Amino acid sequence: MGTEHFDTHAATWDDNPDTARRAAEVAAAIAQAVPLAGTDRVLEYGAGTGLVTQALADRVGAVTLADNSSGMRKVLGDKIAAGVLPQGARVWSLDLESDPVPEGEAFEVVISSMVLHHVTDLATVLEAFARLLVPGGHLAVADLDREDGSFHAHHDSFEGHHGFDRGELTWELETAGFAEVSVTDCATIEKEGTTYPVFLAVARR
Ligand SMILES: C[S@@+](CC[C@H](N)C(=O)[O-])C[C@H]1O[C@@H](n2cnc3c(N)ncnc32)[C@H](O)[C@@H]1O
Repeated sequence: MGTEHFDTHAATWDDNPDTARRAAEVAAAIAQAVPLAGTDRVLEYGAGTGLVTQALADRVGAVTLADNSSGMRKVLGDKIAAGVLPQGARVWSLDLESDPVPEGEAFEVVISSMVLHHVTDLATVLEAFARLLVPGGHLAVADLDREDGSFHAHHDSFEGHHGFDRGELTWELETAGFAEVSVTDCATIEKEGTTYPVFLAVARR
């Protein structure tokens, strides 16, 4: 659906208490499922305003925050300057559906929260994650369980996934080269009277 929606909402993204609560729940689930070392190089893909990384900052090493929305990247830059996100964190303009996988980069952990349902070519992005991770590195993906399409009912140009079937996503991850896939309940999102469950999928490269 392009970057306009996220560009427009970036400046007020953190004002929604439900967004902040959900990001905190995702971060807590990642911290429980992934053995984070204080030295781990972490890539958050589709970082938005960086809420998940913000909550994990004390447990990780060098941080890279990637997003294809210029509005979101502006907020990330402002938060780094203000010390809300770690000083020295890198902000990348990156869309792994169309951009080449960055060369010479390696991460112990790649995380992605509520992003993959916006990705059309899932296989290309998962393969890119595998290439960016060191052998044995962890991927942690939080996203919507399969839903009836109501989540993006007001987004006319939405072309992504109506959530994911956990078994199908596990197969996609294994096909992309990941092992030890586990999927657990992680959080919920309340939207217009409906509760949408969010899972956390963790896998090893
Ligand atoms: C629903 S928001 C989630 C933001 C943040 N991860 C969180 O949990 O609060 C989805 C984010 O993914 C980004 N995004 C969507 N498609 C993307 C793509 N193909 N490449 C990079 N970022 C993408 C959007 O710009 C947006 O910041």
